[in-house]
Amino acid sequence: MQYNVIVIGSGPGGYVAAIRAAQLGLKTAIIERYNTLGGTCLNVGCIPSKALLDSSEHYHNAVENFAAHGISTGKLTLDMEQMIRRKDDVVTQTSGGIDYLMKKNKIDTYLGHGSFVDKNTISIKGNDGKTTEITGEKIIIATGSKPITPAAFNYDKKRIITSTEALNIKSVPKKMVIIGAGVIGLEMGSVFARLGTEIDVIEFEDRILTGMDKDCAKELQKSLKGLGFRFHLGHAVTEVKSNTKQATISFKAKDSGVVNQIEADYCLIAIGRRAYTDNLGLENVGIEKDDRGRVKVDHHLETNVPGIYAIGDVIQGAMLAHKASEEGVFVAEILAGQKPHINYNLIPGVVYTWPEMSSVGQTEEQLKVQGIAVKVGKFPFKVLGRARASMDLEGLVKIIAHKDTDEILGIHMVGARAADLIAAGVTAMEFRAAAEDIARMSHAHPTFAEAIKEAALAVNNVALHI
Ligand code: FAD
Ligand code: NAI
Repeated sequence: MQYNVIVIGSGPGGYVAAIRAAQLGLKTAIIERYNTLGGTCLNVGCIPSKALLDSSEHYHNAVENFAAHGISTGKLTLDMEQMIRRKDDVVTQTSGGIDYLMKKNKIDTYLGHGSFVDKNTISIKGNDGKTTEITGEKIIIATGSKPITPAAFNYDKKRIITSTEALNIKSVPKKMVIIGAGVIGLEMGSVFARLGTEIDVIEFEDRILTGMDKDCAKELQKSLKGLGFRFHLGHAVTEVKSNTKQATISFKAKDSGVVNQIEADYCLIAIGRRAYTDNLGLENVGIEKDDRGRVKVDHHLETNVPGIYAIGDVIQGAMLAHKASEEGVFVAEILAGQKPHINYNLIPGVVYTWPEMSSVGQTEEQLKVQGIAVKVGKFPFKVLGRARASMDLEGLVKIIAHKDTDEILGIHMVGARAADLIAAGVTAMEFRAAAEDIARMSHAHPTFAEAIKEAALAVNNVALHI
C-alpha cells in the first residue's frame, strides 16, 4: 500500500483527520477537488461569512452607535469591493495555513476529484485532465455538503443564489429575499441588513432557528426586527423566477391558498444543505447511504465496507465545522488503535448574528419530551454593568438543570459575546457541573460572563442582581 490513510476532502473534517493521522505516525494523503484546501468552512462558509459579519458590524456601529459614544465621523462611505477583498484575503491566508500544516505534517496533497476504484484504490482526476491512482489501507470520506436548491427555486447563481454567491456580492443590494430562517439566512441577512439592504425572510416553520432554544430565538427575532428584518413565518415558497435584473418570489401562508409575490435584487436560498457524494464512486465499493443521501456509518464512524470511514457533513448529525473536526480526530485515533470518544450532546451551536446566540446540551422542549423534570434559571444581560458600559443590552442566559440533582442539562444564550461565552458552558457540562457549582465560582466583574453565574443562581431562585 502507498498510504496507511487516504482522506478524501480537505474541509475541517478531512484536514484535521489527516493531521491527527500523521501525528500518530500514519503515512497520510489528502485529496481535494478544488485548488485551495479548507473545504466549505474556509472557502465559502465559516471564515468568509464571519469576515463579512465583522466588517458589516463595524459599519453598522459607525452609522448607528458611534454618536452615542460621542464619536462623530462625518459622512460615512462604504466600499463594498474592499470589504469583499479583505474577506478574500482572510480566506487566502487561512487556506494557506492549511497548506503549511499539510507540509509540516508530511501529508501528501493531491488536487483533483477523487473516486473509489475499489476499497483501497482512489482515482484522482486532476484539473489538468490527468488521472492518478493511489492506494491506501484505510480511507476516510470527508466530502462535506452542498446547498439544497429545489428545481422550483430555479437557482441561477446570478439573481437566485446560495450563500456561496452571497459572499461575493460587490455592491449593496436594495432588496433581498431569504428563504429559510436558519443559521445561514440569519447570518447572511444580518450582513446585508447592516449595510442597508431591505431583508424579507420567508420561513416554513412558525419560528426562527428551529431546534434551538425558543426563548433565545424569540429574543433574537426581536433584535433582528429592530435591524429591519421582515419575517414571514409559517409561509412556504412555491416558486422563484428571475430575469437579469431581479428575482420574483411567490409564497403563501401554509394554511392559505393566496399566493403573494415579492420582487428583489436577489433571492438567497438557505433551506439547508445535503451530503455531497457526487461522482465519488460509492457504488463501486457498495457503500450504503441513508434515506437523506448521507453516508451510513456505525458508532466507530465506519461504513458498511470495513476500512472505509466517513466524517463531517457527509454523515448524520449537526453540519458544523467543529463536529467534523472532532470526528476527524476520532477516526484517526481509532485507526491508530486508540479508544476515543465524542460527546455529541456537548457539541455547541452558535449563530453569529448580533446579538450572538449559542447553545449546548438539550433544550427545554427536548427534555420535556423525555419526561425529565427540570428547573430553569434565566438572567437578562441588560442588568449587567458591563452590558450597560458597552450598550449591548439585548439578550439573556438560560440554564436548565435537573430538578433533583441540579446537574446542568442545557445552557442557551443570546447576547453580546455569546459565541465565546458558550465555551464555559461546555466545560462545565463536560465535568457534569451542577448549577450550584457555577453559582459558587468567582466570575470577574464587570464581564458578560457574570450573566452565566447569575443564571446558575437563578436556577435555585437566588440570583443576586434581579
Ligand atoms: P466540507 O468543509 O464541505 O469539505 C469537504 C471538501 O471535500 C470540499 O472542499 C470539497 O471540495 C471536497 N470534496 C468533495 N468531494 C470530493 C471528491 N470526490 N474528491 C476530492 N475532494 C472532494 N460551521 C460552523 O461550525 N461554524 C460556522 O460559523 C459555520 N458557518 C458557515 C457558513 C456558511 C455560509 C456555510 C455554508 C457553512 C457554515 N458552517 C459553519 C458549516 C461548515 O462549513 C461545515 O459544517 C463544515 O465545512 C463541514 O466540514 P467537512 O469537512 O465535513 O466538509
Ligand atoms: P438550516 O437547516 O439551519 O435552516 C433552514 C431553514 O429553512 C429551516 O428553518 C427550515 O424550516 C427552512 N426551510 C426549509 N425548506 C423551506 C422552504 N421550502 N420554504 C421556507 N423555509 C424552508 O439550514 P441553513 O441555514 O441553510 O444552513 C445549513 C447548515 O449550515 C446548517 O445545518 C448549519 O449547521 C450550517 N451553518 C452553521 C453556521 C454556524 O454554525 N454559525 C452558519 C451557517 C451554516
